[in-house]
Amino acid sequence: MKWNKKDLLGLEDLSREEIEIILETARSFKEVSARPVKKVPALRGKTVVNLFFEPSTRTKTSFELAAKRLSADVLNFEVGTSSISKGETIVDTARNIEAMKVDCFIVRHSVSGAPLVISKNVAAAVINAGDGCHEHPTQALLDLFTIKEAFGKISGLKVTIIGDIYHSRVARSNIWGLGKLGAKIVVCGPPTLIPNNIEKIGVSVCYSLPEALKDADIVYLLRIQKERQQENFFPSQAEYRKFFGFDSKRINCTKKKFFLMHPGPINRGLEISTEMAEKENSLILQQVTNGIAVRMAVLYLTVRQIQ
Ligand code: CP
Repeated sequence: MKWNKKDLLGLEDLSREEIEIILETARSFKEVSARPVKKVPALRGKTVVNLFFEPSTRTKTSFELAAKRLSADVLNFEVGTSSISKGETIVDTARNIEAMKVDCFIVRHSVSGAPLVISKNVAAAVINAGDGCHEHPTQALLDLFTIKEAFGKISGLKVTIIGDIYHSRVARSNIWGLGKLGAKIVVCGPPTLIPNNIEKIGVSVCYSLPEALKDADIVYLLRIQKERQQENFFPSQAEYRKFFGFDSKRINCTKKKFFLMHPGPINRGLEISTEMAEKENSLILQQVTNGIAVRMAVLYLTVRQIQ
């Protein structure tokens, strides 16, 4: 099978084979970042635009580094000083930038579906870098890559995702990706932060953290997203920490060999203790490292579809 999509909008739309093509391509790009000269000419002459309408450290930086390691030119569009502030729409903004002959937009937006809307209005490749509560496909792909590196497989592993599932685009993309690759997925959190009927997309729900941690190969902690919570979904941070925070006391509920993951940024002392975040079984920084190879793969596969 060959890759034939110009956009990457979510993992719900991808087949198992397409996800495997991305992971395999990322594996071949990983060694580029270990070279003294971290560059290959694969996208020389192409231009990639970072179009971020929400803050980002990891995703924006690693897309920029990934594009540069493929020898593409990178434009970091500054939303705050752009004509968006004069009322220009995101579609007009993208079409005007495309008129300057760019090849790819990396889009992060607080509204679910914003990257899809842009993709319907431009010929350039469009990659979703996180849209509202919908999907964050490259985060899930780098998570899949990291899990595969740690265990040599994904099929049959138990992955427990803990926290704010309701607002989490990371959880949604991981549920699609892990499910397609054969993992057993358990979600755990306060009932107010677990969407109704989430079992219909192939996960089990568990409201007790000790129960959810039992036999987990991966404990995946989500950030409590204060910026997306219009109302109080739990009584207090102290209560959240008590029932769902991951600290050294939780170790007696886990398997001897398990790995800890988190997409970042982490709320130290809320969903995860500093001690646990720094432990040798924490893959948090390995996830960030692998983000470069995975985003190189996604850029390479999609931008090559553009004539
Ligand atoms: N994981 C993630 O999306 O981090 P940023 O918001 O810093 O990009």
